[in-house]
Amino acid sequence: MTDTANASQPAAASGTFAIGGDLPVARLGFGTMRLPTGTLHGPARDPEDGIAVLRRAVELGVNHIDTASFYRRGGVVANELVRRALAPYPDGLVIATKVGPVLGPDGTPGPQAAPGQLRGLVEENLRELGLDHLDLVYLRVGGRNAPGGESVAERFAVLAKLREEGLIRHLGVSNVDAAQLAEARVINPVAAVQNAFHVHAAADSGVLAECTRSGTAFVPFFPLGGGLDPLDTTRLEKAAARHGATVQQIALAALLAASPVMLPIPGTGSLAHLEENVGAGALQLTPEDIASLAR
Ligand SMILES: NC(=O)c1ccc[n+]([C@@H]2O[C@H](COP(=O)([O-])OP(=O)(O)OC[C@H]3O[C@@H](n4cnc5c(N)ncnc54)[C@H](OP(=O)(O)O)[C@@H]3O)[C@@H](O)[C@H]2O)c1
Repeated sequence: MTDTANASQPAAASGTFAIGGDLPVARLGFGTMRLPTGTLHGPARDPEDGIAVLRRAVELGVNHIDTASFYRRGGVVANELVRRALAPYPDGLVIATKVGPVLGPDGTPGPQAAPGQLRGLVEENLRELGLDHLDLVYLRVGGRNAPGGESVAERFAVLAKLREEGLIRHLGVSNVDAAQLAEARVINPVAAVQNAFHVHAAADSGVLAECTRSGTAFVPFFPLGGGLDPLDTTRLEKAAARHGATVQQIALAALLAASPVMLPIPGTGSLAHLEENVGAGALQLTPEDIASLAR
């Protein structure tokens, strides 16, 4: 890629990683959860804004988009925005989705799907995205609780069967502990793990270490503290001032620096925040920066 292409596609500055060994992506990706609504119980956002953000993300060189059929609010459905914004999909775009929860009557994710419901959920993603196969499907385990405590084997085996049938290229697991990751791997290779993780909420460092060791993509959700555990911005400010960057950019750069398998997918419904987040890929943190972020 030329320098000119890099300047117009800044996501490339974050480096690349091949998911499952054969799906190369810029390490800074994008999550669609914030497109239908900005907050857990907030109103629906304007779908045209979501479409503009998705198109701009791809213009900026983002080619790893994380989505789910259960990202929806008041008729605004993330998967449908992805399709409307980006289909026919450009070569090299990797769309990852996840199945696990079943939607409740109010449209919010409810209890976990039974194994027999997973095929229908995969087919729903195929329909909404307008695809004949899915690049990466995570089994999203558990509710809003911390990972652990339940077997993933029966459900992961169903997804492995759908993979054998050609509906899915690679499988991942989400919201899992080390034991659940090991259990899944016995059934089918795990190309990616997606767990809650950010620079100040690195409770999951054991799973990250295992992903780094094995070359498995580690996709941190809530990388900007969008969930229940906010960023400690005071610990990011010094590095932000040194780089003329925002604290959110430092939080993303710190994730990229933590492991070559780290693929952050910050979510936003704002074009300005998108540009800022993608810009974090070019920041090179120094050991002094990293030390200043430590607890
Ligand atoms: N596997 C799972 O269980 C799971 C769970 C949750 C999320 N996810 C995935 O992970 C992705 C990332 O998580 P997330 O979107 O929930 O949280 P996040 O990326 O940590 O944070 C998103 C929040 O930060 C704001 N924001 C984004 N960029 C910003 C910036 N530069 N400056 C200031 N505020 C900024 C957004 O508001 P604005 O929209 O107003 O910018 C939004 O409120 C999701 O989109 C989804 O794809 C997966």
